[in-house]
Amino acid sequence: MNLIDEIYGLRTKFDAEAIKVNDSEALEQLRVAYLGRKGVISALFNRMSDIDPKERGAFGKALNELKAQTTEKLDELKITLGKATEKKYKIDLTLPGRRDIRGGLHPLTLIMDEIIDIFRGMGFAVETGPETETVYYNFDALNTPHWHPARDLTDTFYLDVPSGKPLEWLLRTETSPVQIRVMERQKPPIRIIAPGKTYRKDKPDASHSPYFMQVEGLYVDRGVTMADLKGTVLAFYRAVFGPDTNTRFRPHFFPFTEPSAEVDVTCVFCKGKGCRVCKKTGWLEMGGSGMVDPNVLEGVGIDPEIYTGWAFGLGIERIAMLKYGVDDIRLFYENDLRFLGQFG
Ligand code: DAH
Repeated sequence: MNLIDEIYGLRTKFDAEAIKVNDSEALEQLRVAYLGRKGVISALFNRMSDIDPKERGAFGKALNELKAQTTEKLDELKITLGKATEKKYKIDLTLPGRRDIRGGLHPLTLIMDEIIDIFRGMGFAVETGPETETVYYNFDALNTPHWHPARDLTDTFYLDVPSGKPLEWLLRTETSPVQIRVMERQKPPIRIIAPGKTYRKDKPDASHSPYFMQVEGLYVDRGVTMADLKGTVLAFYRAVFGPDTNTRFRPHFFPFTEPSAEVDVTCVFCKGKGCRVCKKTGWLEMGGSGMVDPNVLEGVGIDPEIYTGWAFGLGIERIAMLKYGVDDIRLFYENDLRFLGQFG
């Protein structure tokens, strides 16, 4: 058999072997056997010098063709095998999907957003103030006498500030200091709410937490009356709890308002009939309010002979608890995802 025939024979042999290849290992073996440094094709190239010079051209051409065809076939096989493997490990589309872990807003944030929306709709601007306050803004400017129990070390978190005097800095006990900050820089008409966190040394239980939230309201202009206060607060609670809700203003005392009143709303559980939650009164206590004391207005340079105003400070957690049926205020601050996840 001449060498050219041998080359053609090899071609047939290679094709027969290639058909049997069914994994990448067999493919590699075939490649080494034919195209490797010690493979059959290299061996044939090495025999070039033995060939009759007259036949060398034809031999070289046939051999190069064999090499090219073998290479091409091996490349093709590699691709085919790759596709087969892909098929073998294809994603199983019938498997149940993996759930996305999605964050959600905190229930108090949801309520706060709703409250802000309602007051914005009534023409109130939103103001904020620092949670770290001075005794001046938290008590003095709010007409709070030195003997007032709220100032006690047992009720208020006082802060040690290196640059400050003792008992000068504190964590605000109410959002009311924002009233002073606003009135210092803005003159009437003023119509703002100030939502935010407040702090008191209360022992935590189902209805107390050392941190809680309030929304402060302040309206100062010529001719502002207590009727405006009552109308605004009623409209607010009806927007939150529904049109059947009513409010009740009970006489009270706050240093920064005169007259002062505590605000009650119709018990959302018994609709005012009297139940265990409202202790049979039909009413739930929601916060404080009143006509801004002339002393407070004078202190910030607003003439109480020209202007009058009202203010309120309402509890946020209370609203959230009633709206969402939560019976323990501590749940809002424990960061338990089983609780928080229910609010989306
Ligand atoms: N700051 C009071 C408190 O936390 C609530 C309050 C009462 C706020 C009367 C007011 C107000 O603005 O006018 O108990």
